[in-house]
Amino acid sequence: MQEKILILDFGSQYTQLIGRKIRELNVYCEIHPFNHYPAIDESVKGVVLSGSPYSVRDTDAPRPDLSALKGKLPVLGVCYGAQYMAHFFGGEVAPSNSREYGRAHLGYVDHGCVLFNNISAHTQVWMSHGDTIVKMPKNYKVIASTEDVNFAAYKIDDEPSWGIQFHPEVYHTTEGKQLLKNFVTDICGCQQNWTPDSFVETTVNELKAKLGDDKVVLGLSGGVDSSVAGVLLHKAIGENLTCIFVDNGLLRKNEFEDVLHSYKDMGLNVIGVDARKKFWDDLKGISDPEQKRKVIGRNFIEVFDQEAHKITDVKWLAQGTIYPDVIESVSVNGPSATIKSHHNVGGLPEKMKLKIVEPLRLLFKDEVRLVGKTLNIKQELLGRHPFPGPGLGIRILGDVTPEKVRILQEADAIFVNGLKNWDLYNKVWQAGVMLLPVQSVGVMGDERTYENTVALRAVTSTDGMTADWVHLPYDFLAKMSNEIINKVKGINRVVYDISSKPPATIEWE
Ligand code: XMP
Repeated sequence: MQEKILILDFGSQYTQLIGRKIRELNVYCEIHPFNHYPAIDESVKGVVLSGSPYSVRDTDAPRPDLSALKGKLPVLGVCYGAQYMAHFFGGEVAPSNSREYGRAHLGYVDHGCVLFNNISAHTQVWMSHGDTIVKMPKNYKVIASTEDVNFAAYKIDDEPSWGIQFHPEVYHTTEGKQLLKNFVTDICGCQQNWTPDSFVETTVNELKAKLGDDKVVLGLSGGVDSSVAGVLLHKAIGENLTCIFVDNGLLRKNEFEDVLHSYKDMGLNVIGVDARKKFWDDLKGISDPEQKRKVIGRNFIEVFDQEAHKITDVKWLAQGTIYPDVIESVSVNGPSATIKSHHNVGGLPEKMKLKIVEPLRLLFKDEVRLVGKTLNIKQELLGRHPFPGPGLGIRILGDVTPEKVRILQEADAIFVNGLKNWDLYNKVWQAGVMLLPVQSVGVMGDERTYENTVALRAVTSTDGMTADWVHLPYDFLAKMSNEIINKVKGINRVVYDISSKPPATIEWE
């Protein structure tokens, strides 16, 4: 039985980070909404109560029923979690009148307390709350304080429950990972045996048991998630997995051939479908970005469905869904507005009437990469930048034509190869080129030109939700501009996008 830590989510923006940090310690954990968590069995070694945007004093604040947990197994309350266990068990939480945002240093620390094993005196912690605990229940003991916060951490007498008002999961809490390690290993007794290898072994066995001799179909996109899902499934059920890779006419230059080739090299049973003409025909004359996305999504479903029906007796549709999508869709606040309709191929499962199998649904993105590495997938594939499903279709501003696709593919290939040759590719989270619906005057030789402009975009990010433009070297930009203008017929001007997200977005449409 896989031992685990349960994280009860009260809606904090940092809850996923707690999960990631615990996973980095090779301890398996699951995040569940505070009001809807699974029954506690012996696989659960401990519980973390997360932070929350609410105050415990709000009338609609989360009020979890902790009767199955508190006092029965180790519990660590973080921020809201700590305040909840104080306020509703005989203490008091009130708005704080001193500064409790940002960096602070622990002054008093009870080093006899196992939670603070190997944590230095005066260690830096990160606070982020408007409320503070002003009165502790009488069986609670203070185990750490800062200059402004008396009850920065506590332990409940005679039960394995702790509360901390700072956030151990964020970067600015310098020894936060050590604290979480103390909790999950020394207090909860977890083994730290959740590794990519163990994940592969368990998942392959589970997939074998679940799928038996059934046939499965999977759409490959060239991206990390679907590729890793494909290799994992292939390891479990071999030739019973058929992959479909569609050329929608909006991929990068040579992408279809190159990626198809690497999939075949990896032993996958993959069908490549050239559907370029269908996509281009249906996109003709459409300029509205959302409309383009709809046409592209609908076409994908049609093409995929048609191909899948050529395989007899398919029972399952596999998808490369990963953990953040799963958490978001069952989050405390309901499916989050931050999930865009485009992030899943909406409609496909309903249309195909197949059962769904999602072998990566428990993994964070960085874990998917580690699993891919364990499966010997080439770094070239694992380290690829994200690329939007509608591809170049949303990087050609305005209507899409085959000629515009060709121009953009050329410019994009120069930029991406340039980043690789200058050793910049891995320092950038995502990069691409936008073809603008703008023509301007130029001069080439003795000729006056009136041609298109492209914008280069390169950003750093961790999850695409926020991003900053990369300060690429001027020499590199100069070289790119020259090469694009000289080699790509139809472009006479290159600009570099220096907008961060927010307020801009990564894509221009
Ligand atoms: P934005 O432009 O919203 O992009 O800042 C954030 C991330 O999402 C990708 N993106 C898409 N991915 N279908 C996708 O599969 C889409 O329609 C789409 N639009 C944006 C974008 O490339 C970036 O990684």
